[in-house]
Formats: sequence, C-alpha cells, structure tokens
Amino acid sequence: MTETERFVKELARENKAFWAGRDVRLDPDAPRDALLSQIRYRMRQGVYNELRSVELIAAWIPWVPEREIRDLLPRQLEDEHRHYQLLRRRLKDLGEDPDAYQPLPEWQALFDWLVACRHRPTVEKLAMFQFAGETQSCEGFETLIRLARDLDPETADLYRAQILPDEYRHAAIGRQALLLLADTPQRQQQARDACREMNLKVFRAYQAHRSRADRGG
Ligand SMILES: [Fe+2]
Ligand SMILES: [Fe+2]
Repeated sequence: MTETERFVKELARENKAFWAGRDVRLDPDAPRDALLSQIRYRMRQGVYNELRSVELIAAWIPWVPEREIRDLLPRQLEDEHRHYQLLRRRLKDLGEDPDAYQPLPEWQALFDWLVACRHRPTVEKLAMFQFAGETQSCEGFETLIRLARDLDPETADLYRAQILPDEYRHAAIGRQALLLLADTPQRQQQARDACREMNLKVFRAYQAHRSRADRGG
C-alpha cells in the first residue's frame, strides 16, 4: 500500500468515526407514523438537494483542471438530475406537490457555500463533496432503505435500485481524486481539513432538518 493509499484509508476511517450516531435525520426508534413522516420529509428535501447537486457539479466542472477527474463529473451531473426527477415523480405518485416544498434554509446555505467553493483546489472540493459528503449520503441511504422497507417498500426500492448504486460511484470519484492528488503532507492536510469543514456543516444541516421534520415539515 502506498503512503497516499494509507492516508485515504485513514481519512475514510476518521470520517466514519465522525458520523457515528450523528445522522439524526431519521429516528429508527420512532413510532411507525412518525418514522414514515420523517421519510417523506427526507424525500421532499431530497428533491431539492439532488437539483442543487446538479448545479454544484456544473459550477465545479470548469474549475477542475485535472482532466482524469473532470471527465468523471458530467456523468455524476446526469445521475443527480435523474435522481431529482425520480424523487419528484415518486412524491407526485404519493399525491404530493414536490414543487410546493420550501427547502430548509440550512440546506440552501450548505449548497450556496459549496457552489462558492468552486475556486478552491480540486483536492479540497472533492474531499468535501464526493469523498466526505457522498460517502455519508450512501450511509444515510442505506439507513433510509432499511427503515422504509416495511413502511413504504416502493420508495425503499427506488432508493436501493436507482439511486444508491450511483451514489457509491460518486463517493468513489472522491476517493479517486484523493488517491491522485493527496500525495504530499500539505495536500493531505488540506483534504483532512476540508472533510472536517464539510462534516461539521452537514451535521448542522442534519440537526436543523430533523427539528423541522419533527415540527411537521
Ligand atoms: Fe444523487
Ligand atoms: Fe451523488
């Protein structure tokens, strides 16, 4: 194993440790009705988040000069747009108007900040969104799928079959970027700090998300 590989593995472990018990968006111990409404709230906010992810990737593409990484981003953009459409359609099928939902200001602020980060070095950007963010998304979707399986099997299946495999690929883009770019102590520190910055911001958004979901969305 190279020194960079060791670093990337260690950083993944640190991120995983950060997230232990911190994804508060769903409460596995909540009564069925409360859990189902938490899942619905996740979907409503998810429509917004997927669309902002499209915008974010589009904003970053011109600012990723490393061709081998930049070339992976258009497919991610397409995936996020497909996820947006899939979730939006599912909410419509459930009798909701997905466009009437007012996104949570904390999520808006998070995406605004990420878009504004486009000028930062690739090693930092990809550490933030793809490596830290998308890896946590995969964990979050695994939990969602597990909890939705009995309550709303069709939605669970949508996430499992049509969204989660793409999100694992997006997380892998982050890993690939770090393996390519985090090859000096200085760049490794940049990547580690960027993950920390992202994790703390996402955690604050999760807390706001849950408290609003508990108030009825
Ligand atoms: Fe997505
Ligand atoms: Fe993604």
